[in-house]
Amino acid sequence: MSVCFVFVILSTFVVAALADTPANCTYEDVAGKWIISEGERGHDKTLNCSGFAGLAASTLTVDLYFPDIAVDSVENIGFWTIIYNQGFEIQINGRKYFAFSMFKQSGKNITSYCNETLPGWAHDDSDRDWACYTAQKATAVPAKQHTVSYLDMEIRFTYNRNNRLFIHQINKIQKSWTATEYKQFEKMPMESLIRMAGGQKSRVLSIPKPAPVSKEVLEAVSDLPDAFDWRDFNGINYVSSIRNQGGCGSCYAFASMAMNEARIRIMTNNTQQPVLSPQDIVECSEYSQGCSGGFPYLISGKYAEDFGLVEEKCNPYKGIDGSCSTDHSCGKQYSTKYQYIGGFYGACNEPLMRLNLVKYGPIAVGFQVYQDFMAYKGGIYHHTFLDDKFNPFELTNHAVLVVGYGADPSSGEKFWIVKNSWGNSWGEKGFFRIRRGNDECAIESMAVQSFPILS
Ligand SMILES: *[C@@H]1O[C@H](CO)[C@@H](O)[C@H](O)[C@H]1NC(C)=O
Ligand SMILES: *[C@@H]1O[C@H](CO)[C@@H](O)[C@H](O)[C@H]1NC(C)=O
Ligand SMILES: *[C@@H]1O[C@H](CO)[C@@H](O)[C@H](O)[C@H]1NC(C)=O
Ligand SMILES: *[C@@H]1O[C@H](CO)[C@@H](O)[C@H](O)[C@H]1NC(C)=O
Ligand SMILES: *[C@@H]1O[C@H](CO)[C@@H](O)[C@H](O)[C@H]1NC(C)=O
Repeated sequence: MSVCFVFVILSTFVVAALADTPANCTYEDVAGKWIISEGERGHDKTLNCSGFAGLAASTLTVDLYFPDIAVDSVENIGFWTIIYNQGFEIQINGRKYFAFSMFKQSGKNITSYCNETLPGWAHDDSDRDWACYTAQKATAVPAKQHTVSYLDMEIRFTYNRNNRLFIHQINKIQKSWTATEYKQFEKMPMESLIRMAGGQKSRVLSIPKPAPVSKEVLEAVSDLPDAFDWRDFNGINYVSSIRNQGGCGSCYAFASMAMNEARIRIMTNNTQQPVLSPQDIVECSEYSQGCSGGFPYLISGKYAEDFGLVEEKCNPYKGIDGSCSTDHSCGKQYSTKYQYIGGFYGACNEPLMRLNLVKYGPIAVGFQVYQDFMAYKGGIYHHTFLDDKFNPFELTNHAVLVVGYGADPSSGEKFWIVKNSWGNSWGEKGFFRIRRGNDECAIESMAVQSFPILS
């Protein structure tokens, strides 16, 4: 699965697909020795790296060690993380390097070259001194091939129109949550389904299991409340309104804006309540793929740190791709210290998520969306595995915002409270609850946070 979230609208269901680039490069593919060829420095952030041909003004050799340690040839120590299966970021010697992994696409055939990167962006920690770069791995990584099949998707979507039996079965075999039909999605034309499905270029990957929980973390969580909800913290709501991403794979942008909005409210005791623009991300961010997907790490974090977010009025939501039309006179809302919870991709776990949630505010997560999830109406969701029986739907990835947690008073079943971006009429007034503590649908494997900078 790749991450983000193309939101494919089914006739009956909204499907979130993560799209992104089609590259499929895992931790094992990326760890090792890299040679970074960096172009001329001294540019500002308007530098366009897309045509960078690898003409190096300097080279840097960096070893990427387990689990997140980067060491250069003069023994500077920094750190690194992969971003899902899409690329990797290195922070070392006062500079940050981020690039997507290399891939080539020929029709439906995708080849990932995990030993090379696409042109990426390097800059110093103060964001003033930019350069383009490419990186090559010193050791061989076999090219990897996979295919995408749009035709398969079309067949599945057709098959799923008005699948009442499926919904009936979900409600019959378990009592934890209820499923319903969403009539509002039936009007979506098939062409837009296919167009959106086209964004789902990669579906992949074994996700890291949540990291082991240390003794210190266990002690710290024992002080946390049994239930917590940023929508009602001492009677006050810090979570901005539910929005609707529509048929654009922009869930990653909505989750990212929602995290920054909530954290600004928390930091300012609700005296500032900006609504931030996901359309700016869809149109203007080169760290994501518009309506074809992206990742909260790169948006709520890296884009917000490097370029800043703008308010909704500076680029109101259209839900389609387009060239960057953001009003450039608008002020920017920056963030900093973005990270995967635990420090790097693969370090996340449930107690760490709760600690960060309570201490700093809502956190963006990715999780695997199976078809039964689309029909969620209320209760504590867990995957029923009925999809396999009714149709072999490909799992996808969706980005959302965790705003709280709790446990059912009668059954004791633990849950997360999560803000979705499928409108108010979906789920529990736009929110959903999902099983907590067992990495349900990988929701405890890739949480991200960043910290707004108040102006
Ligand atoms: C960078 O250049 C490419 C073409 O080389 C263009 O498609 C893209 O829009 C440019 N990006 C920006 C931010 O100007
Ligand atoms: C895709 O790969 C298959 C098998 O490797 C090959 O037969 C086919 O020609 C390729 N298609 C394209 C468009 O490259
Ligand atoms: C990366 O690997 C491919 C084969 O998998 C090879 O053709 C290519 O030369 C390698 N690139 C570098 C920079 O070593
Ligand atoms: C992505 O790579 C992993 C590990 O190399 C592999 O298990 C998985 O099947 C790949 N996914 C696709 C879609 O090729
Ligand atoms: C935060 O806002 C509430 C409600 O407006 C107010 O009662 C409270 O005193 C404020 N707290 C601080 C620390 O300003």
